[in-house]
Order: sequence, then C-alpha cells, then structure tokens
Amino acid sequence: MRVIVIFALVGLALAAVHEHKLSWRPSKKIEMIRRGEYAAYLEYKNKLRAAHPELASLSENVNDFGDFEYLGNITLGTPDQNFIVVLDTGSANLWVPATNCNGKPCKNKHKFDSTKSSTFKKNGRDWSIQYGSGDAGGILGEDLLKFGQTGQQQLAVPKTTFGLATHISSDFTQDATDGILGLAFTSLAVDGVVPPLINAINQGLLDQPLFTVWLEHRGSLNNVGGGVFTYGAVDTTNCGPLIAYQKLSSATYFQFKASHFTLGSYQNTKSYEVISDTGTSFLGGPENVISGLAKAAGAKWHASEEVYYIPCNANPGPLNITIGSNLYSIQPVNYIVDTGNNQCLFGAFPFDFGGFGPSWILGDPFIRQYCNIYDLGNKQIGFAPSLQK
Ligand SMILES: *[C@@H]1O[C@H](CO)[C@@H](O)[C@H](O)[C@H]1NC(C)=O
Ligand SMILES: *[C@@H]1O[C@H](CO)[C@@H](O)[C@H](O)[C@H]1NC(C)=O
Repeated sequence: MRVIVIFALVGLALAAVHEHKLSWRPSKKIEMIRRGEYAAYLEYKNKLRAAHPELASLSENVNDFGDFEYLGNITLGTPDQNFIVVLDTGSANLWVPATNCNGKPCKNKHKFDSTKSSTFKKNGRDWSIQYGSGDAGGILGEDLLKFGQTGQQQLAVPKTTFGLATHISSDFTQDATDGILGLAFTSLAVDGVVPPLINAINQGLLDQPLFTVWLEHRGSLNNVGGGVFTYGAVDTTNCGPLIAYQKLSSATYFQFKASHFTLGSYQNTKSYEVISDTGTSFLGGPENVISGLAKAAGAKWHASEEVYYIPCNANPGPLNITIGSNLYSIQPVNYIVDTGNNQCLFGAFPFDFGGFGPSWILGDPFIRQYCNIYDLGNKQIGFAPSLQK
C-alpha cells in the first residue's frame, strides 16, 4: 500500500510545467534587405524556379528557411548534444543535421553523432521535407530529447523520433539555426512521426496537454527580445486574462476561422481559414486583402524585393481581426518592422497556398500582440493579451 502511495507521488511530481526561453535575431531575409542584397537573391531564386518548372509546381509549404526569427536550445542524446532550433507551430517534425551531412550548408552547424549517444536507437526510415525555399532530408532515429539548455531545468522526453539530416539545401547555409522543431499535429508530420511535444503529452510528462507562446517586443523591432514557450500551462506571468478559445477547424496546423481584416479606411468582411505560425515573421494573406491593408497604412510595394516599405514613424492605427466573437487589434509597434537601416517594412506579405490550405498565416506580429495558447489536447487555440507594454 505504502509503495503505491509513493509511486503515485512520484508520478505526480513528474508531470510538470516547463518554461523554455527563446532568443531572437533578425531573419535572414531582413538581414539581406538591410545589406541591399535581397533583390539580387530574389532574382536568382526566381530564375531558378523558371528554369526548373518542377520547383514552381511544388505545393507551397508555409515555412521559408529565410524567415525564422525566434530560436530555442534543445539537447539530444545521452550525454547531451546541443542544438539551436526554430520552435515552429507551422510544422510537425523535429530534425537536426547529422555527422554525415557533408555539404557546405552543414559546415558550421552542430551535428548529431549517434555513435556518441548511449540512448540512441536506429529507425532506418527515410524522410524529406520541402520548404518554400529549399529542402532537407535524411534518415529517422530515436533518442532522448530535452527542451531547454543543458545544465538548466529541462523538459526531458525519452524515445523521441527525429530526423537526422544528411542533406540540407544551400538556402540554410548562412543561418544560426541547426534545425527545426515542429509543434503542430501528427497529421501534418512527414512520415507520420509523432511530434516531440505530443510524445511528451502521451507519456504524461505535462500537467496539461497545451503550451503557451509569448513573444517579446521592445518597441522598435531593431532590438527584439526573445520570448517564452510554456509547456503544460497557460503563461500567467507574461500574459493577461484569457480572451477566448477558438475551436480549430483543422487540427493539422493550428487552423481556425477569422474574418473582418480592417485597417484605417480598409475593410474586408470575408471569413478565411487562417493558421497561427510562430515560424513566419510576417502576416501572410490573399494578395488583394494585403494590398488593401498596405495601401490604407500608407505602405508602398517594392517589386524588386517583394516587400512593402512604410515610414518608420507612421501611425496608421491598429490592424483589426475578428476571431469568433472577439476583436483582436494588432498595434503598429507589432506590424511595422524596422530593418535596422532606418527603413521599415509593413509586416505583411501576399501569400497563396494554392486553394486547399489556409489562406492566411498569422505569424509573429499577431503572436507578439497576443499570447497564443496552443491546446493540442482539446484541439483549440486560446488568446490572451501580452502584458508587455
Ligand atoms: C542557447 O545556448 C547558447 C550556448 O550555450 C547560449 O549562449 C544562449 O544564451 C542560449 N539561448 C537561450 C535562449 O537560452
Ligand atoms: C480597430 O479596433 C479598435 C478597438 O480596438 C477600434 O478603436 C478601431 O476603430 C478599429 N479600427 C478599424 C479600422 O476597424
């Protein structure tokens, strides 16, 4: 009897809440814009696509290697091997480079050495993922994953299946990121691999089957802080009272309905399928709506760089969105993006998924304004105001 009681207590102590601190750095795209290299890069990419029609016809992945801004530390294996990954709610696989990834894109990255891990198990199946601007692939393996930095409090998830990349495309070369940690649903995962956090939930490692994302801003996006992912609980330190939960219309991405995109004199009353995506640094939406919003904000399209410029001191008022019966207002501080050159961008881009998928990506500008609560267990998403002023 006594043994059982002790056992139950141990079980209780194991289920937990874990805070994972992020760091921020400007996306590769913003860096290229700042250095004046982006137009030439786009021209090169578009030529490549024109010369290879098979690339142009690939279904668009919402993620682009050049577009990640918020990064976190994880470790894999026993003892810990360290990696820097994008914590991405717009995909569902974990992968990192492997020691036998020989190409230039892998050169400066941390690489996983399975021979140095006592807990590694071979899987042998292949995987490959196509991104908006490149691809990655290799074989699958299984090992101990820990969210967070080695030496600090970590969330340990034994028996996590992940991709060991033996190939990553050149788009990924100039990037501090080693790999990507997808946080969406299993149904979105390549090869049906159970995503790490769902694996943690299935093993009873979290108090609640959800996580909260708070992304930090510091006025000017020139110097953005990191943020915190809170696994297993609603973040009440950085987020105000819950506004509402919205049922997901599809539990693949975190996909739901939103309508009434308005800014200044521009109004669009249509209802759209949207996704919340930490791995996209801007808002993406249908070309006609984005251009309407941009025009109302006083932003100007630059065709050679495919971005909207806006004066840094512009104050066009909030960009409003309706989700369920609630109005959400994204303030200019969160959608006007400073490139660091005294030049600012309107943080939205035209996006065409190609008919069947979502038609909007609510990326970082939305998530900086509102904490998002990704409720995997109840297939819903919650919103709460960020407490940061
Ligand atoms: C990640 O790890 C590196 C190296 O150990 C450290 O410098 C950095 O501050 C860590 N980042 C976060 C967000 O903890
Ligand atoms: C946006 O919402 C705010 C309330 O948060 C309201 O004051 C403003 O008029 C709205 N703007 C538009 C264009 O709908």
